[in-house]
Amino acid sequence: MTDHVPVIAVDGPSGTGKGTICRYLANTLKWHLLDSGALYRLLALAAGQQGVELDDAEALAELAANLEISFDYSGDIDRVLLAGQDVSDEIRTESCANAASRLAALPEVRQALLSFQQRFRQSPGLVADGRDMGTIVFPDADLKIFLTADAAERARRRHKQLKEKGFDVNLADLSVEITERDARDSQRAVSPLIPANDARVIDTTDLSIQDVVELVSGLIRDQFPV
Ligand code: C5P
Repeated sequence: MTDHVPVIAVDGPSGTGKGTICRYLANTLKWHLLDSGALYRLLALAAGQQGVELDDAEALAELAANLEISFDYSGDIDRVLLAGQDVSDEIRTESCANAASRLAALPEVRQALLSFQQRFRQSPGLVADGRDMGTIVFPDADLKIFLTADAAERARRRHKQLKEKGFDVNLADLSVEITERDARDSQRAVSPLIPANDARVIDTTDLSIQDVVELVSGLIRDQFPV
């Protein structure tokens, strides 16, 4: 008997298909799912509600340590609750994503959310979706995948996804916002968005979700032979 709880870490910028792939993997494997981006978005939302400035590291870390969050992935749509209130739609806006990316650059915030994220590692296994899952949060993950895609294609996908969710978004504005956010995420001093040395990098620009599912499923079969 072993008490090792396996982790599949999936990192990369937005619009690479990460969220869809992670949800699919967690459902198929019947493992837990950590949407770490949602935590940063929730913190940004809570900061807005409580009037905490996005550069007040101390107050944000305090807020992060006391966040009352729960996730419900059981239905067709992922539900996220903040202090018992359903904020699933609020956290998906681009303004919330941008605020999340600003506070995510603060080491105090990342430190405050670290153990919270690590507690999602529970039997029978965890699929972890983020930017630093394979590098910082679960450096011993059993399988590390880093998804990339051309910036224009990622903006196009995000645009389609947000439109489908009923958000009124403009492709050109979205492209600029995504490029700025990626630059901030990649260039920050702590936990920058980079592939772990032992990550399998997959460029999804010309791949469908189904193609990516097949590629990743092959990696999983190699890593966890039955
Ligand atoms: O993945 P998502 O778009 O929801 O993430 C929102 C923002 O949260 C990212 O742009 C990034 O700045 C931050 N984030 C992070 N580390 C993670 C997940 C998200 O810094 N593990």
